[in-house]
Amino acid sequence: SCSAGEAQTVVIGLAADSGCGKSTFMRRLTSVFGGAAEPPKGGNPDSNTLISDTTTVICLDDYHSLDRTGRKKEGVTALDPRANDFDLMFDQVKALKDGIAVEKPIYNHVSGLLDPPELIKPPKILVIEGLHPMYDSRVRDLLDFSIYLDISNEVKFAWKIQRDMAERGHSLESIKASIEARKPDFDAFIDPQKQYADAVIEVLPTQLIPGDNEGKVLRVRLIMKEGVKYFNPVYLFDEGSTISWIPCGRKLTCSYPGIKFFYGPDTYFGNEVSVLEMDGQFDRLDELIYVESHLSNISTKFYGEVTQQLLKHTDFPGSNNGTGLFQTIVGLKIRDLYEQLIASKSGTPLAATKA
Ligand code: ADP
Ligand code: G6P
Repeated sequence: SCSAGEAQTVVIGLAADSGCGKSTFMRRLTSVFGGAAEPPKGGNPDSNTLISDTTTVICLDDYHSLDRTGRKKEGVTALDPRANDFDLMFDQVKALKDGIAVEKPIYNHVSGLLDPPELIKPPKILVIEGLHPMYDSRVRDLLDFSIYLDISNEVKFAWKIQRDMAERGHSLESIKASIEARKPDFDAFIDPQKQYADAVIEVLPTQLIPGDNEGKVLRVRLIMKEGVKYFNPVYLFDEGSTISWIPCGRKLTCSYPGIKFFYGPDTYFGNEVSVLEMDGQFDRLDELIYVESHLSNISTKFYGEVTQQLLKHTDFPGSNNGTGLFQTIVGLKIRDLYEQLIASKSGTPLAATKA
């Protein structure tokens, strides 16, 4: 039977500003779980939900309590907690975690209105992605794992230009203005959530080219909290030591400005963390196998799985740099965490995955 209480929905929170790579990350995550996620069949074509065999991704914009007109009238942005219904978010995430289906509202991004709700059944893995997955402490306590995508202003700007100017015909000035207008609420309500994240992917301009802030070559840091159950941070060469590594040489082709890795312990908002950093980009993605073979605790099921995942999706943005690499690794860590959590609940011992 499928009665409430027996359900084993694992809940993952993914926080980031909009346009910061959440959907790309979700595509990498569901690929690791073995199937692409798609919009619900036969439902509202403007649904924000994605469903695969294992995973349901819901977009927290669906918990907007104020629609576009309401926000205009009240003078609040979508980032403002007053525009969002955290009571309903908590009730519904809790119900799903307890194995109970819910009628979730739909925020229609085209019309800016709230559409009639859609039925969401409890999945194996529920991902809640959006602006506020770690804002409300009740919702936060339901998360089995949380991730924050921390895109620096310079890089955010470069990505917005690429998308909004090239694809949506906005002007440079209007893009600048919209980023500036969002910033106070972003700083007040979105950014502080990173202190609660189990893993943070920080995306910064490269340090390999002095003075560069074009946002093309990236320095990406994976910040992993220590002491999180079922999550053992990845390490390079020697756990706990501090290492700087330039892998360019006989085994790896690097053109200017090269590739640089860093690994070491640090503190982040008062928590002990391990940091793995990659600056630069791969010339030849198949050579990533050389880097992969030097990483431990990456939760792969076979040798070369990280490289295989990246090669499968070379068309996704960031596949040749640390964003793609670390998103893929976090996906594998989540699969591992999921398998350990399920095994612990069912009491079945699980064969350890390969380091
Ligand atoms: P979100 O779901 O958070 O709105 P997307 O994953 O759709 O973000 O990404 C938005 C845009 O940002 C992409 O179309 C792309 O232009 C840019 N982008 C996202 N991730 C990367 C990346 N790793 N490298 C370069 N550009 C990226
Ligand atoms: C969604 C996005 C926000 C965006 C908003 C647009 O809620 O998640 O990031 O700002 O839509 O709101 P607007 O009031 O400009 O339609």
